[in-house]
Amino acid sequence: MFEVHGLSAGYGTGADVISGVTIDVSPGEVTCILGLNGAGKTTMLNALSGLVARSSGEIELDGSRLDHLTPVERVHQGLVHVPEGRHIFRRLSVEDNLRVCLGRGGRNERDQIERVYAHFPALAEKRRRAAGGLSGGQQQMLAIGRGLVLSPKTLLLDEPSVGLSPMLVAETAEKIAELAETLHIPVLLVEQNLDMALKVARRAYVLRRELVGPFVDDELADRDRIQAMYFGGGPASDPERLATPS
Ligand SMILES: Nc1ncnc2c1ncn2[C@@H]1O[C@H](COP(=O)(O)OP(=O)(O)O)[C@@H](O)[C@H]1O
Ligand SMILES: [Mg+2]
Repeated sequence: MFEVHGLSAGYGTGADVISGVTIDVSPGEVTCILGLNGAGKTTMLNALSGLVARSSGEIELDGSRLDHLTPVERVHQGLVHVPEGRHIFRRLSVEDNLRVCLGRGGRNERDQIERVYAHFPALAEKRRRAAGGLSGGQQQMLAIGRGLVLSPKTLLLDEPSVGLSPMLVAETAEKIAELAETLHIPVLLVEQNLDMALKVARRAYVLRRELVGPFVDDELADRDRIQAMYFGGGPASDPERLATPS
């Protein structure tokens, strides 16, 4: 179980960007945080992985506190963050992209890489090719694969839908749900893309500095309501704002 209680964080200038964020994510489940550009999604994930300092709050994985640990120590505890943008090394092969994440190469290096290929057969086929030649969807798989080689106990995903066609968004969403289930780990997905989020999430929240939600079960099918929350006005929001999100 991945648990966050009252997490607030910002950049030391003015008010916190996120405030009082509280969520639990169970193994096997995808929880989605929806938010517009600038809502604080990346700040939230960075605060979880330790790249941005928190001003208050607790972070626990399987009952152990992580919030006082460095980013690297959090990874060693199993909290793995796949950052915004793919950050793949375009000139390196697919396999070398996976290998660089393993550092000095332990005994299990081969096993860990093969495990990623088992999840993403398309990457196995292209293991010797330059990563820059992969399709957008495959590059996103590689970015997630680089998280998987680290044997995550919780996966944080920052906007994997960016730059993908609607078809690939749907495929990536399915893959993410499947990973959460087969690895039986909590997955926290932050997204601007409502279609992806509502397709994959067991629970969804809207982030507007603080979290609104959770939306569960039938509520997830009520796209209009979630969309209205998402664009900031609640159910009675001005339709013009819906048409021109800031
Ligand atoms: N390094 C930074 N220093 C100061 N402010 C930042 C920094 N990064 C992001 N912000 C601010 O924090 C807010 C949330 O940004 P971000 O977390 O990137 O949102 P999102 O990922 O939802 O688009 C924005 O107002 C942004 O300008
Ligand atoms: Mg972001």
